[in-house]
Amino acid sequence: MPSDAFVAQLNEQIGHEYAAHQQYVAIAVHYDAETLPQLASFFYRQALEERDHAMMMVQYLIDADEHVIVPGVAAPQVDFKDIVEPVSLALQQERRVTEQINALAATARNEGDYTSEQFVQWFIKEQVEEVATMSDLLRVVERSRDDVMEVENYMAREQPGGEGSDPTAPKPAGA
Ligand SMILES: [Fe+2]
Ligand SMILES: [Fe+2]
Repeated sequence: MPSDAFVAQLNEQIGHEYAAHQQYVAIAVHYDAETLPQLASFFYRQALEERDHAMMMVQYLIDADEHVIVPGVAAPQVDFKDIVEPVSLALQQERRVTEQINALAATARNEGDYTSEQFVQWFIKEQVEEVATMSDLLRVVERSRDDVMEVENYMAREQPGGEGSDPTAPKPAGA
């Protein structure tokens, strides 16, 4: 059985993952409106991944017979001054989530809740990838901020984050 402290913190994390989902939808819509389809589709895809993270956490709590709180979330930022700002916001968000995931692992360990500690391991690995993907992308958009087509070509060529399905990933609720 997961510890009460871990369950409370995981329920909060579900809210953070949904907030990340909403922020990525807002960024995708912004790029889509600017007719930057490659950047838009990257962020639409990232948004779906965040939604899956939330639903993986929901499934874990359901499997453990714990109470799931489906959260409301604060409104995302929707206005951006240039093509760099959304990516820089995304990188900050991924760094913050990494800290939150590490804090979840620390709570699980402090509580002697090894099952939850193991559950969190996949997210630790996932955050390493997401921070790396976003800092690569930040370098690209900073370098080419005056040549957006160069960024679009890079996205079309490299497909950052399009890693396909991961058999080690926890199952999202409803999948
Ligand atoms: Fe996430
Ligand atoms: Fe993420």
